[in-house]
Amino acid sequence: MISIFFSPRGTTKRTARAILGYGQKVEERDLLGSPLKEDLVLPPGEPVLVAMPVYAGQIPVLCRRQLKAHLKGSGNPAVAVAVYGNRAYDNALAELQDILEEAGCPVVAAGAFIGRHSIFPKVAEGRPDQADLALMAAFGDKCREKLAAFDPAAHVRLDLPGDHAYREPGRVPFHPSCNDRCMKCYACANTCPAGAIPMETPWITDGEKCISCGACVFLCPTQARQYRGEAYEAAAGAFAVKCGQRREPELFL
Ligand SMILES: Cc1cc2nc3c(=O)[nH]c(=O)nc-3n(C[C@H](O)[C@H](O)[C@H](O)COP(=O)(O)O)c2cc1C
Repeated sequence: MISIFFSPRGTTKRTARAILGYGQKVEERDLLGSPLKEDLVLPPGEPVLVAMPVYAGQIPVLCRRQLKAHLKGSGNPAVAVAVYGNRAYDNALAELQDILEEAGCPVVAAGAFIGRHSIFPKVAEGRPDQADLALMAAFGDKCREKLAAFDPAAHVRLDLPGDHAYREPGRVPFHPSCNDRCMKCYACANTCPAGAIPMETPWITDGEKCISCGACVFLCPTQARQYRGEAYEAAAGAFAVKCGQRREPELFL
């Protein structure tokens, strides 16, 4: 089994691992540290799980580009997973299904799961919780059954929610800033998937390039990097109210 994910703040990776089971033999490809720059040709017959966080109702644009350009399957059965921050996953699963099927990976199962919102951490705080993790494990068992029984000739396309009208998502207006706790370890500049943190001046964020993924906030050892500011605090409060009602995972098998 090959597991491909992008997980700047760790929840998507955790979800993929909870689905696949920690004891299973899985080859992981983390697009945060190892973006696809060359073709990834899947060994014939090898199942693949692709897990993506939801950004503006779609999968992150840089992942869409990488997967479309470089994922090469030959009938490899696939599981599509979207992880979202309790607002909505909109077109993300449908988009991932289209990308995988076009790459030669028929989608036999899909799931949308909830994780703490990476920009507004009070939203879906504590998710995934024990109930989510149990559901992920049960979903993994069902996926294994479907993958084992996969017959390409009998594949019927899953009917997933989403309108297949993909746009270039608008930019999130909030970007992490850095304060004087920065000790210039360069972890943020080395990890930023968008090249938005210059090596020479890692206390600066290039708002034009930043995709607001929060990887730099997550790994900063001194918490120097954070979302800050009055506009951010106001939006965080409003978002927590708007998205306060608990959503539940959805499984498609
Ligand atoms: C730029 C950006 C846009 C997001 N858009 C959405 C969204 O449309 N709907 C939603 O419910 N959550 C949204 N989220 C929240 C993430 O989908 C969620 O926090 C996810 O668990 C992050 O995965 P990670 O922890 O693996 O990085 C967004 C997060 C970011 C950074």
